[in-house]
Amino acid sequence: MIAVLDYGSQFAHLIARRIRALGVYSEIFPNATTAAELKRRKVEGIILSGGPRSVYENGAPTVDSDILAIGIPVLGICYGHQLLMHVLGGKVIPSSKEYGKEILTVLKKSRLLNGLSKNEQVWMSHGDSVVALPQGYILTGRTADCKMAAYANEKRRIYGVQFHPEVQHTVHGMKIISNFLDICGCKRNYSLKGIDRRIVAEIKAKVGNGSVIMGVSGGVDSLVASALVKLATPNIHCVFVDHGIIRKGEAEYVRKLYEKLGFKNYHYADASQIFYKRLKGVTDPEEKRRIIGRTFIEVFEAKVKELKAKYGEIKFLGQGTIYPDRIESAKASKAASVIKTHHNVGGLPAKMKLKLVEPLKDLYKDEVRELGLMVGLPKDALMRHPFPGPGLAVRIVGEITPDRIGIVQEADFIFTEELKKSGQYDRIWQAFAALLPVKAVGVMGDSRSYGYIISLRAVTSVDGMTADWAKIPANVLESAASRIVKNVRGVTRVVYDITQKPPATIEYE
Ligand code: XMP
Repeated sequence: MIAVLDYGSQFAHLIARRIRALGVYSEIFPNATTAAELKRRKVEGIILSGGPRSVYENGAPTVDSDILAIGIPVLGICYGHQLLMHVLGGKVIPSSKEYGKEILTVLKKSRLLNGLSKNEQVWMSHGDSVVALPQGYILTGRTADCKMAAYANEKRRIYGVQFHPEVQHTVHGMKIISNFLDICGCKRNYSLKGIDRRIVAEIKAKVGNGSVIMGVSGGVDSLVASALVKLATPNIHCVFVDHGIIRKGEAEYVRKLYEKLGFKNYHYADASQIFYKRLKGVTDPEEKRRIIGRTFIEVFEAKVKELKAKYGEIKFLGQGTIYPDRIESAKASKAASVIKTHHNVGGLPAKMKLKLVEPLKDLYKDEVRELGLMVGLPKDALMRHPFPGPGLAVRIVGEITPDRIGIVQEADFIFTEELKKSGQYDRIWQAFAALLPVKAVGVMGDSRSYGYIISLRAVTSVDGMTADWAKIPANVLESAASRIVKNVRGVTRVVYDITQKPPATIEYE
């Protein structure tokens, strides 16, 4: 196993995912993890991730110095690269910022940079730089602005790279990670083979004859989790809470999907009126989220009570929590913690004395999709784009009204249909329509009209932490835009959002 020590980089998870994709198991650990703990876990290599701090700042996270003395290979990336030099006797200073694609000149072939060309495209994001190496370390790479972009100590098997090998823009990043796995002597034998049987057996052992209740959303995670629980026990109840701020036709889609998959106890809770009432006049995004989260729990709780009265004791709560939900980055964003509370129906298990069943808790999204295929779930359901818990509420800027919900639903439906028709949908991480609460003039026939602006957003991403706008062909955007203006009453303009994350977020609120 390779341990990734998390210094708060949005890419920490990406490092672990890349390693798993290369056939070696990897987990994220807090940066304060001790050498003793890593040894106990039989770690074969340690990667120090990037992070937002400066190593010389007061209170900046550091590394247990024993980790550098136990003989396990270490690779520092970005902040990790600087931190190693900081603690080993090199020097790190503030420097000019490098952000984006750069050319790395390989000065010397270390085992880490084995197989790379003289010049390699890499991706940088840093404001500090290493300017002096301690004895025993050789300089192996530089860029135009970063004189010490890579170093190595082959004897101690300690390496550092200022750039991010884990991101796609570092063209041969996978080769570098793979070289590190060779340096660590890892066997490439991690795969999902047999994981479905293992997880089902674990669920069986845990729940026995007890009943499990699951909140389902139509999303990939709750779908795969509920399918696994169903393979383990017939005593599963699925509850779909409809807060009314969902995609067009969603409630019907989910009901049919679960029916087709043979779920016997599927329960639908229509709570849209309560949600509309409580959201009336609310414009603050966080307030919207709070109201939705709280009301969601209330409705779910009421449903559980009802089911208990009808079917008897329910001991377990099944959840589609996946690995990144559980292991938040050290620099967890506000959205990430909100996702967690909402997604996991926060507070319920303790309050209702339910024991948690989380079959996907160690897996990444792409692994969840693969597992879904292994247990025979339909591909189109597994390839659905993520949908936020608060639903369209974070895609309608400002007040939520039934009228605005209707407009966004229709626009979103048309956009999705066009993306599917043109084969773009599966290439995109997430695509949707958002409503901007400003009105613009248009002409319809001979008369002037006045209506909302719909913003279409489509992004490519690997985990939602960073994202690029999707380069959708112009003709697809054009058909979506003209169909929306023509068919959705109250819309006069359609724009396409080309902002990256960061600095923008994926959702609008
Ligand atoms: P942002 O907008 O933060 O979104 O760039 C990143 C990913 O998280 C989803 N998201 C949410 N999911 N509750 C959720 O369940 C939320 O409050 C929430 N906010 C954002 C978003 O759809 C994207 O996939």
